[in-house]
Amino acid sequence: MSAEGQRILGIETSCDETAAAIVRDGNAVLSSVVSSQIDLHARFGGVVPEIASRAHEELLIPVIAEAIAEAGIASDEHPDVVAATVGPGLVGALLVGVSAAKAMSLVWGVPFVGVNHLEAHLYAAFLEEPELELPVVVLLVSGGHTMLVAVREPGRYELLGQTIDDAVGEAFDKVARTMGLGYPGGPAIDELSVKGDPSAISFPRAMRNEGLDFSFSGIKTAVANHVRKHPEDEPADVAASFQEAIVDVLLHKARKAAEQVGAKGICLAGGVAANSLLRERTCDVGIELGLRVFLPNRAMCTDNAAMVAAAAYHRLLSDGPTPLNVGADPGLRLVAD
Ligand code: KG4
Ligand code: ZN
Repeated sequence: MSAEGQRILGIETSCDETAAAIVRDGNAVLSSVVSSQIDLHARFGGVVPEIASRAHEELLIPVIAEAIAEAGIASDEHPDVVAATVGPGLVGALLVGVSAAKAMSLVWGVPFVGVNHLEAHLYAAFLEEPELELPVVVLLVSGGHTMLVAVREPGRYELLGQTIDDAVGEAFDKVARTMGLGYPGGPAIDELSVKGDPSAISFPRAMRNEGLDFSFSGIKTAVANHVRKHPEDEPADVAASFQEAIVDVLLHKARKAAEQVGAKGICLAGGVAANSLLRERTCDVGIELGLRVFLPNRAMCTDNAAMVAAAAYHRLLSDGPTPLNVGADPGLRLVAD
């Protein structure tokens, strides 16, 4: 199914961002509205599922209305397709977006497309680079996932490696909490690291030389122990040393994966892809291996709905609309086992 000028409304409510966007023809972002719930969850040090669902309920309709108005869609018109993230994520949070999308699809008489949140993150990289030459290796690093994915043809993914315990964003968030830097931790550690010495402390690099899987629970504990034993250490040095160890492991494996796949390019995706050191070092790897590097802009790295609409455009072309009896799936995977 394809129609020129097709405007897809994307809806994202899988975690703590309530987002809606209008994307035309799969890559022209006409609007992208993200309402963050960070302030609501910050005092609990992490996302509280029940609070997230309630906030999505309150925020979603105004956010959608804003996305539609900003895209210049008149009040007597409507988007041509409605897409929503169906998983993975928090079930109560997902249900808010999925139910709203299905209702709009019925009322407007337009197709519904259910989108995998992880595939949406991959499309954030492709949104700005529609002519991306395959194969590419994507390092998908978010609060819930850490994976290396090979994309050899559009829409087909091969999982090369993933975390066996904590996601990398989770490690950033937990370390920041240990250090009293607040939530979410990634941006706080990123910022503080600029003033620190990355070689001050040598934190463990678990599984660095073992295959393409990752493990980040050990480093989180190592930082907590270090902070307890050495309270005199500069927080900036601790943050910079932690970030250095994480980025070193991520890129050591991404480099191996790119070589293994014979990749033409390397992409970053997911919230942690906003990290300054990771972005800088990915460019270094690209230069070293002669690979093209695709870094989504920072707003596209963290959860947003433009990436949902972009992924929906491609799913609609390949698979057609999603039946309305498909529900939210909190454990949805990118690649079937
Ligand atoms: O993709 P995302 O917005 O939500 C999930 O799907 O998980 O990712 C959120 C994660 C959080 O753990 C946050 O701390 C991390 O991305 N993050 C960062 C940075 N910005 C966000 N981590 C490191 N450096 C950053 N600049
Ligand atoms: Zn995400």
